Amino acid sequence: MAVITTRLGKIITTVILIVILLVGGVGYLAWYNLLREVPTYYESPEEHFKYGSIGTENAEGIPYWIWLVLPRLFPEYLPGNGGYTSLGFTWEEGKETPVGISKKTIGFPRQGITCAVCHHGTYREKPEDKPIIVPTAPSNKFDSQGFLRFIFACANDPRFTSDYILDGIYYNQKLSQLEKLLYRYLIIPQTKKAILKQQESYAWMDSRPNWGPGRIDPFNPVKFRTLGLPVDDTVGNSDMMPLWNQKQHQGFALHWDGLETSLTETVNTGAIGDGATRDSINIAGLQRVEAYITQLDPPAYPFDINQSLAEEGQPIFEQNCASCHAFGGEKTGTVIPISEIGTDRHRLDMWTQEAADAYNEYAADYEYDFDYLRKTDGYLSVSLDGLWLRAPYLHNGSVPYLEDLLEEPENRTKVFYRGYDVYNQEKVGFVAEGLEAEKVGFKYDTSVQANGNQGHLYGTDLSSEDKQALVEYLKTL
Ligand code: HEC
Ligand code: HEC
Repeated sequence: MAVITTRLGKIITTVILIVILLVGGVGYLAWYNLLREVPTYYESPEEHFKYGSIGTENAEGIPYWIWLVLPRLFPEYLPGNGGYTSLGFTWEEGKETPVGISKKTIGFPRQGITCAVCHHGTYREKPEDKPIIVPTAPSNKFDSQGFLRFIFACANDPRFTSDYILDGIYYNQKLSQLEKLLYRYLIIPQTKKAILKQQESYAWMDSRPNWGPGRIDPFNPVKFRTLGLPVDDTVGNSDMMPLWNQKQHQGFALHWDGLETSLTETVNTGAIGDGATRDSINIAGLQRVEAYITQLDPPAYPFDINQSLAEEGQPIFEQNCASCHAFGGEKTGTVIPISEIGTDRHRLDMWTQEAADAYNEYAADYEYDFDYLRKTDGYLSVSLDGLWLRAPYLHNGSVPYLEDLLEEPENRTKVFYRGYDVYNQEKVGFVAEGLEAEKVGFKYDTSVQANGNQGHLYGTDLSSEDKQALVEYLKTL
């Protein structure tokens, strides 16, 4: 009897051990193939800025292999040839992703976005030139909304099935049997579901004017999707901003309406806005981004400058503009009330006190926390360093050329095309009219809601000689 119980005991122990091993083995495999995080590290601060993870892959990133093949499987949903580059992405030679897209393994390779997707610019002297990339410049061509809508259209297509997608992936990547199973039964169906859910959370976009390249509605997604505030009818469409030279911006408020006063918080909220969660946000990686944008100098104007004309323009600048725009100017980096500046007020009205309060509470339990979001009543008198590459001008990108900004609003360009990166040295800004600009560009109509080009009348009453000298001087900033 005792012998039998001992034997039975041994058998039971063995079975339990086997079960534990099996469960453990499956658990390990599941962890390895679905959750294991492989850190990425770029030695160069510029490469880190362009490609390094800021923690957006977990929640909003798409499995890399799926993301990679979508343009090949659903080209009809893109605005033109060239895959992702038709949405204004810049894809450098030898890179696995375009500028501003990270690739990180969390169980399996996933795609995420980085600050550089919106904060890098390109320009060309002539159409046949290769674009020159300037990290931290405001993008003039990345169509963030177009990218979202492309992904949504793919997920809604009945061909978005495991068979079709896997077939596409096999051209790029060999998958193990286990990976094939995971992609077929878990990763592809879950991706489709997640994209459709994401689409619902962006449904509010469809009743408002399109952002177009180089612009986004920066905080409505945060209000409605992250902070859980009720959907309202505001339109916040705004132009991207440059990030260089923060060392000289110390003490300036940030964002077009100055809704932040801390650079560190602006950097961290940037990552939350891009889809990082409170837990996935990569604070150490963002500290490197902050150090990089702090020390980086603004890009010098790369074309010829008429130095004597620019010298004539300097005192005109000092008299008419310096108080709000020069480093050391008494109002530079402060909010100028909307009643005084008179530009389109939609972007300003998009941000509310409730939103600021909710964002300040959002990360209260986290070490990084947010405390400096606020509601203001106007727009920031931004510093003009690297001004030539900030075109189109004003917070909504409504004025294509510097020359235009010095005209009375009724004489400023009413309809133009943005998204083309050939430079117009005469008017100072990106070429915004003509066949080529129309072909690649987005039609910007200043009569559309939130696109108004009124206000900012400074310098409009100068003589045409003085305006010319002033514009020449502005190239030197
Ligand atoms: C999807 C596009 C997009 C991404 C990605 C993005 N930004 Fe921005 N960023 C913008 C836009 C647009 C503005 C201006 C928004 C406004 O105030 O209306 C801006 C403004 C800023 C400003 C304020 C600049 C100033 O002089 O006031 C900072 C700083 C900034 N972003 C940093 C970052 C960082 C750091 C990241 C990455 C963690 C990031 N952004 C990611 C679009 C983006
Ligand atoms: C009283 C303050 C004030 C004065 C004076 C002033 N500006 Fe501005 N400026 C602003 C504000 C505020 C904005 C942002 C307005 C907006 O985008 O809605 C701005 C925006 C700009 C921009 C757009 C920057 C960008 O990145 O798109 C340019 C260019 C500019 N100003 C040039 C000038 C010039 C040139 C003068 C002198 C002739 C001048 N400003 C005088 C307050 C001022």
